[in-house]
Amino acid sequence: REGRFGDYSINEYIPGCVQPFKRRIRRGYQVYREVCSACHSLDRIAWRNLIGVSHTEDEVKAMAEEVEYTDGPNDEGEYFQRPGKPSDYMPRPYPNDEAARASNAGALPPDLSLMIKARHGGADYLFSILTGYMDAPAGVEVREGLYYNPYFPGGAISMARALFDGLVEYEDGTPATTSQMAKDVTTFLAWAAEPEHDERKKMGVKAIIIISILTALSVWLKRARFATLK
Ligand code: HEM
Repeated sequence: REGRFGDYSINEYIPGCVQPFKRRIRRGYQVYREVCSACHSLDRIAWRNLIGVSHTEDEVKAMAEEVEYTDGPNDEGEYFQRPGKPSDYMPRPYPNDEAARASNAGALPPDLSLMIKARHGGADYLFSILTGYMDAPAGVEVREGLYYNPYFPGGAISMARALFDGLVEYEDGTPATTSQMAKDVTTFLAWAAEPEHDERKKMGVKAIIIISILTALSVWLKRARFATLK
């Protein structure tokens, strides 16, 4: 069925995921994992956060197990390697900032957990950065190792263009155009910046309903109580 958010007739294959946004978050996670996670960390998201949002519990367990984590110390005081669990956080591409800078010509790829919140323009900014690479206009000099991107403050960014048509293969058959991947990963990162967003809104609606009832009740009670004093 074609809806406002695209074709969502194949939702069944993510049990428990009925909203079309969840499918987009799932595709966005795939883009993050296959492209961005080569350089960017996502420190504030644990595997378990994906459960029921973009993946099932079994899928998340399997994905976490593929990653080796250092744990310990054990009773002998040793650190050891073990497969990941849903409670582990997303693995980092580099052990520390120095290693990250060394691999990126001195520039530090920032953690993406709160990127949507950290930059003016939020999701629009992120989408624009990812799709905004172009040749520098005549008269504009870009230093070696930087790339022209008019959406980045200053116009020259040290991240090369990361998304190209057909870079990933979506399991739901969505064509992986540059803009589709940019939109999907932006949605994923918008979710990652506020995984509790939907719960918070639902709680807010409930709070408003309850407070409205209590307010009406107290107004009625006040009138009833003081009616004799008129
Ligand atoms: C910077 C997103 C892939 C290396 C950034 C910024 C964002 C971002 C939002 C910050 C821009 C700012 O400071 O305002 C993404 C996304 C990716 C991706 C969503 C995947 C689709 C990569 C890859 C690499 C990389 C694969 C490494 C090859 C960097 C570096 C910077 C950066 C070095 C710092 C740029 C600077 O400060 O000039 N990225 N990135 N990124 N990214 Fe990426």
